[in-house]
Amino acid sequence: MKHLLSIEAMDAKSIETILENASVMKAQRGDSQHQPLAGQTWAMIFTKSSTRTRVSFEVGIRELGGSVMFLSANDLQLGRGEPLKDTARVLGRMVHGAVIRTFAQSDVEEFAEWSGIPTINALTDTEHPCQIITDIFTYQELRGPIAGKVVTFIGDGACNVPISWIWAAAKLNFQLRIAAPKTHQPCPNLIAKSGGNITVTEDPNAAAEGADLLYTDVWVSMGKEAEAAQREQDFADYQINEPLIKRANADALVMHCLPAHRGKEIDEPTLEAHANTIFTQAENRLHAQNAILNWLVS
Ligand code: CP
Ligand code: NVA
Repeated sequence: MKHLLSIEAMDAKSIETILENASVMKAQRGDSQHQPLAGQTWAMIFTKSSTRTRVSFEVGIRELGGSVMFLSANDLQLGRGEPLKDTARVLGRMVHGAVIRTFAQSDVEEFAEWSGIPTINALTDTEHPCQIITDIFTYQELRGPIAGKVVTFIGDGACNVPISWIWAAAKLNFQLRIAAPKTHQPCPNLIAKSGGNITVTEDPNAAAEGADLLYTDVWVSMGKEAEAAQREQDFADYQINEPLIKRANADALVMHCLPAHRGKEIDEPTLEAHANTIFTQAENRLHAQNAILNWLVS
């Protein structure tokens, strides 16, 4: 039984298989001969908002021949206190796979353990693996192999997106630099455990020097809304904008996992100048996740 619960738990070969297959899935989109989910019904259980992840999985599961049901966690008995392990055992007897977006990483792991069906982490507070697989696929599609390149993350270095980048850097052999205020840097133990070539700094200019990819995410992740005012102060100097891009390599890509907050983590002219990359990145969620689904059931 395969799951996709985190980049941490994946081996490099599986990530590479998915990345290769994502190109095939993109090229062959709409090929009705390839329906690895035919006869299957997948459940999507979301406790947090979503545009890209929800739509790309709903479309992808249908295109691969499956049916999908979207279940808001609040509408399930889960929201009234039914234990997750009971919910998992019930769904595991009825559906063929689950895509879960929630807060605690331990919840997706518990669901996978008790349901006995392939389970995908569609974002937790700890990781956003489908996003980072997509981002690497997008980088490689536009610029070639990511191995040996310099990826610079600017912003909240302690949230799910940079944590998935940390694990990916170690497995796929690229250099990762994280520029974040002291209060929002990733845990040093995690960096050490990953074994990757990773530097963490408070200086976004130094981090951007000679980078091949400049990447950012929201300053206020879902669940952190109460800290919004403080975070806006903390992150004021951590914006991707033209002066920062000038420090990167001439052909550096700019990516944002979206949703974007113009004037905060990225300015409007920069987002629009790099819109083609950023919305290709968003589209590629569909193709990369179709490759993930294919890998899970094969
Ligand atoms: N990037 C991303 O996961 O977007 P959504 O929150 O809209 O799914
Ligand atoms: N770090 C962000 C990612 C959104 C796709 C969050 O968790 O809200």
